[in-house]
Amino acid sequence: MKKNNFSRRQFVGTVSVGSIAAIASGSIPTFGNISHKMNETANLAILGGEPVIKSKVWPAWPYVDEKMIEEITKTARSGVWCRIQSATGTVATFEKEYAKLMGTKFALGTGSGTQALNTCVEALGIGPGDEVITSPYTDMGTISSIITSRALPVMADLDPESFQLDPREVERRITQNTKAIMPIHIMGQPCNMERIMAIAKKHNLRVIEDACQAHLGVYQGKVLGTIGDVGCFSFQTSKTISCGEGGGIIGNNEELMEKCYTVQNHGTSRKGRSETIGAKYRMNEFEGAILLAQLAGAKERFALRNKNAAYLTSKLKNFPGLTPQKLYEGTESGSFYLYTMTYHKEHFNNATRDQFLKALSAEGISMSGYIANGLHKEPWVDHIVNLKVYQKMYSPARLKQYLDELACPKCDQVCADMVMLWASGPLLGTQEDMDDIIKAIMKVYDNRDKLNKI
Ligand SMILES: Cc1ncc(COP(=O)(O)O)c(C=O)c1O
Repeated sequence: MKKNNFSRRQFVGTVSVGSIAAIASGSIPTFGNISHKMNETANLAILGGEPVIKSKVWPAWPYVDEKMIEEITKTARSGVWCRIQSATGTVATFEKEYAKLMGTKFALGTGSGTQALNTCVEALGIGPGDEVITSPYTDMGTISSIITSRALPVMADLDPESFQLDPREVERRITQNTKAIMPIHIMGQPCNMERIMAIAKKHNLRVIEDACQAHLGVYQGKVLGTIGDVGCFSFQTSKTISCGEGGGIIGNNEELMEKCYTVQNHGTSRKGRSETIGAKYRMNEFEGAILLAQLAGAKERFALRNKNAAYLTSKLKNFPGLTPQKLYEGTESGSFYLYTMTYHKEHFNNATRDQFLKALSAEGISMSGYIANGLHKEPWVDHIVNLKVYQKMYSPARLKQYLDELACPKCDQVCADMVMLWASGPLLGTQEDMDDIIKAIMKVYDNRDKLNKI
C-alpha cells in the first residue's frame, strides 16, 4: 500500500461525471459512490461534538421468537432430552433438515464446532505422528480439535487481503506425515478452495473444512462444507445459526459419516457395539429444538447479511482508508459472520487503529479488532512440544523445525490491522443503518487530523 494521504480533490477525481452535480450541491460523492456531506467542521463526538448516531438499537442476536420458546417448552415437557431416547426427536429431525438445507446426504449434530472437528479428525484416523495443516487465524477450537487427538497442527500463513490460508504457504508446509488440510472459511467467506483441493489431490490429503463461521455460503456453485471430505459447523451463540453451544458435520460419504456418528457417541455405533475411541460429543434435544426454530428464517437472514455487506462494500469502493475483506473469484455468497476490513492508518493521518475505533465508537458505531494474537503465538505451542507424547511421536529435528517455521508475519499484520463489525446484529439492519455506518466512518475520516488528540 502506497503511503499517501489522498486529498479530497484526488478522490473527487475518481468519480463519474454524473456526480459533479452532487458535488456542486454539497453532497460529495468522494469515494466510489459514497455520498456524504463534508464533515470536517462537525466536531468529533469523542472531542465533545454531536455523534452521528445518537441511539442505535441493532437487531438483537441471538434470534429468539415465540415458536422457539414453545419448542423448548415442548421438549422440556416431553422428557426426551437426550438424542438416544428417540430416533425422531429434535436432533434427528434437525440433522435431516440441515442436510436438506446444505444439499448433502448426511448431517450429524454434535455439542460444539470443536467437537465436530475433532470427531472428523478421529474418524479419518488422524492421530499421534500425523500432521494437519491449518491457519493460525482462527478460534482455538480449530487447533484444539487437532491436538486433542495428539496430532501436530502445522501453521500456514495467510493471504493478508482475504485473511484466509494462502494455498502456496499450505503447499510449502507439507511433509511425509501430513494427512490433512483444515482450511477455515474465516468470517464466513470462502477460502481459495479451488487451489486447496488441487493441492490435497496432488498430495493425497484429506480435507476437513472448518466452516464453523460459514453457514450457507456458496463457492463455485457448492455450499461451503460440501467441498472437502467433510464440513464442520459451530452453532455457538454468536454464530449465524445458533443454539448456545452446538456443532454439526455434513458429508456425502456414508461410511465416513457413520464413523463420525460412532466417534461422537463415545465410540459406540448405531448398532450398539462399542467399537472405537471417541469422546461423548452428542447434541442434546434442547439444542435440536432451538436449531430447528432458528432454521426457519436462516436463509432470509443470510440473504439480508449478503445484501447489506455488498452495499457497504460498494460504498467503500475506492476509499483508501478501509479495504473490505477480499473475496476470491468463485465466491457467490458468504455467511458474513463478521464484516471485516483492513484499516490503513496512513490514510487516517497515522492515527492508530485504537484511536480510529474509539472515535468511531463515540459516533455511535462499534467496531473492534478480532483475533489479537495469531494462535501460533499462544502458549499451547510450548505446551505440546514439551509433552512426552509429542516428543515420542515427532523427532527432535521435526519439533525444532516446527518451532523454527512457526512465524506467520502476514497473520501478525492481519491481527494488527483488521477491524470488524458484527454481522448478526448490525448486518441485519436496514440500508439506512448501513448509511449510518458509512457516515460515521466518513466523519472520522474527515476529521483524521484530530485523531491524535484522542
Ligand atoms: C473458525 C472456527 N473454528 C472453530 C470454532 C469452534 O466452534 P465452537 O465454539 O462451537 O466449539 C469456531 C467458533 O468460534 C470458529 O469460529
